[in-house]
Amino acid sequence: MIRGFMLRGLAVAAILATAPAAQARWELDYFPNTPLLTQKGEKVRFVDDVLDGRIAVVNFIYLDCPDICGLATARLAKVYEWLGERMGEEIVFVSISLTPERDTPEELAAYAAAFGAGPGWYFLTGDPEEVALLRYKLGERSKQLSDHRSDMLIGNPLTGEWRRSSLMGNLVTATAEILALDPDWVPPQAEVKVIEGETLERFAARNREGEGLFIKGCAACHSIGDGVRVGPDLEGVTLRRDRDWLMRYIMSPDRMLAEGDPIAVTLDAAYPAVRMPAFGLGENDAADLVQYLHSETLRLEGVAEPAAAAHDGHTAHDLDDPSDHQH
Ligand code: HEC
Repeated sequence: MIRGFMLRGLAVAAILATAPAAQARWELDYFPNTPLLTQKGEKVRFVDDVLDGRIAVVNFIYLDCPDICGLATARLAKVYEWLGERMGEEIVFVSISLTPERDTPEELAAYAAAFGAGPGWYFLTGDPEEVALLRYKLGERSKQLSDHRSDMLIGNPLTGEWRRSSLMGNLVTATAEILALDPDWVPPQAEVKVIEGETLERFAARNREGEGLFIKGCAACHSIGDGVRVGPDLEGVTLRRDRDWLMRYIMSPDRMLAEGDPIAVTLDAAYPAVRMPAFGLGENDAADLVQYLHSETLRLEGVAEPAAAAHDGHTAHDLDDPSDHQH
């Protein structure tokens, strides 16, 4: 049992210590302000309208893609859900067509809808030469469609920090990496030092406490990863909300609603029939619950997730190399 908790503890440590692999510093003037078309047919420019100073998650897809694109988009859709109301405000997803000569805004809109993409997720097409140049600048330089990268490029235009992250590995890690691009973001368990023996025990104890509390007080209305019951599915809630907000909400949801907290108001409207009860929990209980919710999110994602869906596509449409256009 303890061993299990240790594994969870180490996983948290691994996430907090997420070391960026390939990293780049790209100031805003690095990017072309490419004119593009959104899935709604709106004309936008890459830097001014799409990035617009927001943290960005960029990947490449094409509608005829026989293998990896759909899976990558589905996995991105999960991250999208976890990022919750940050989407569009602080963070944008940018899925750029690799075959802009074929992929129309209407078709991209249908694709976006199939994955539940809402505000803050752009599916972009445009002039093939312009898109090819942008693609090249963003590091997607494969010559064959089947070789295109299945990872994502994540970055913060305000800090100039950009890196690649996997979409096929642990999605909690990927989500945490995106959130960590905001210099003000506080990781869910920042204060737990799980490496030292004593605090590891405390960590395990907290998890047990949290689990007990959850089963007694919350499980009747909430699942973690099994979908909506009376209230929202709490898988990923430690990522989609700030820790501070989560603590306050668990302790006194009634007060936050009365004070007009925008998230509490939105949640109340989305679940009109029943209200999240105010149990009068103290800070320790709330902390135990928050930690348990985060551990369960990690566990469900599979800390040692099998290397899902190796990329093995064999279509052979040639991709124009943008450097060819620079005569
Ligand atoms: C009687 C059913 C019920 C119980 C019991 C309950 N909740 Fe809730 N909870 C809800 C509902 C319904 C909402 C949505 C907001 C609303 O309508 O008030 C919610 C919302 C939440 C949210 C916000 C989710 C989000 O997406 O941000 C969290 C976190 C939460 N509950 C945690 C808990 C915890 C922890 C417990 C146990 C201590 C608990 N809830 C017990 C019904 C319940």
